[in-house]
Amino acid sequence: QHVMVIGGGANAEHEVSLGSAAAVREALAASGRTVTGLAIRRDGEWETLSGERISLAAAIQRMRESDVVFPALHGEGTEDGTFAGLLEIVGVPYVGSGVRAGALAMDKWAAKLIATELGIATAQGVLIDGEQVCGDPAGLPFPVMVKPVASGSSYGATRVDSSAELTAAIEHARTFDDRVLIETFVVGREVDIAVLRGADGTLHISQPLEIGKDADAVFDTALKYDAEPDFVVPAPLTAEEGEAMRTAARALFVALGCDGVARVDFFIQGAEIVFNEINTMPGMTQLSQVPRMFAVDGVSFPELVAWLVEGALA
Ligand code: DAL
Ligand code: MG
Repeated sequence: QHVMVIGGGANAEHEVSLGSAAAVREALAASGRTVTGLAIRRDGEWETLSGERISLAAAIQRMRESDVVFPALHGEGTEDGTFAGLLEIVGVPYVGSGVRAGALAMDKWAAKLIATELGIATAQGVLIDGEQVCGDPAGLPFPVMVKPVASGSSYGATRVDSSAELTAAIEHARTFDDRVLIETFVVGREVDIAVLRGADGTLHISQPLEIGKDADAVFDTALKYDAEPDFVVPAPLTAEEGEAMRTAARALFVALGCDGVARVDFFIQGAEIVFNEINTMPGMTQLSQVPRMFAVDGVSFPELVAWLVEGALA
C-alpha cells in the first residue's frame, strides 16, 4: 500500500499538523507501508517534503497515485470537512471523517446543540456572530471561556474572570473565527476518550485519559505543547463515570457521523459528565492523547495508524 500523508495547513494549528504528519509517516513506515508526504504551507500553497513548491494540480495528481490519503490535518480549512470534500471530489480513499462530521465537529456551537439534543450536558453557552447573538449573555456568570467557534489546540481561547476583560477576549477569538462562543467556565476534572471505527465497522472505545492539572486551570496551548503534558491513563473514574463517558462519546460519534478515530473531550463536574468538544483528527504524535489511550490497551502507535489506514480502505 502506498499511503500519502498530508500535514500543515493554512491555520493556527499548522505546526501541530506538521508534527502529527511526521509521526504518522514514521509509524506507517514502521509497519512496512510505502509512505510519501505533502504539506500545505501557511499561505495555502503546497510543497513536497523537501520543501519544493508544487501546484494544487500536481498535489492532486500525487494523491491520486497513492492508494489512500492520511490527512494529518488539524483545524479550520482542513479538519472541518474542507479537506475531506477535496478528497471526495478527487476520488481517493482517505483516513478519518467525511465532510459532514468534520464540519459539525469543528463547529463547537453545532456540536454543543447536538450534544444537548442527545441529553448530554454541556456548559451553558452563547454564540456571538458580529451583531447577532444566540442565547442570553447576561445570563452567564463569570468566569467564562471565550473561544472561536472553529479553531483547535486552544488557539484564540481565553478564560475571562470579569466583564472588563470580555471585549478584548472576544476580539482575540475573532482573529481566528468570526463566530465566537462564550461558555460558563467548568471547574472540574478534564477527561478525554476516543472512539475508533474498525475496518469491520465495529466501534472501539479507548481507555479514558485525564489531563493532569488544577480543576480551575485551562489546558491551554502552552500546557498542550510547550512541555510534555501530564496525562493519566487510564483516568481513575468510577464505574458510573466511565460508563456515562463511553455512552456519550459513542452517541456523539454516531450522531455526527464520524469515521476513523475521534477524541471526545469532557469535564467531570461533581457527578456530571459535561461535554466540551469533539475532534475528528485529534493530535497524532506518540505523545498525543489518542495514541496514549490505545497504548495502555496494548495497541502500539504503528498498529493504531495501521488500523486507521485499513479502515479507510475497507
Ligand atoms: N486539535 C488538536 C490537534 C487536538 O485536538 O488534539
Ligand atoms: Mg480541539
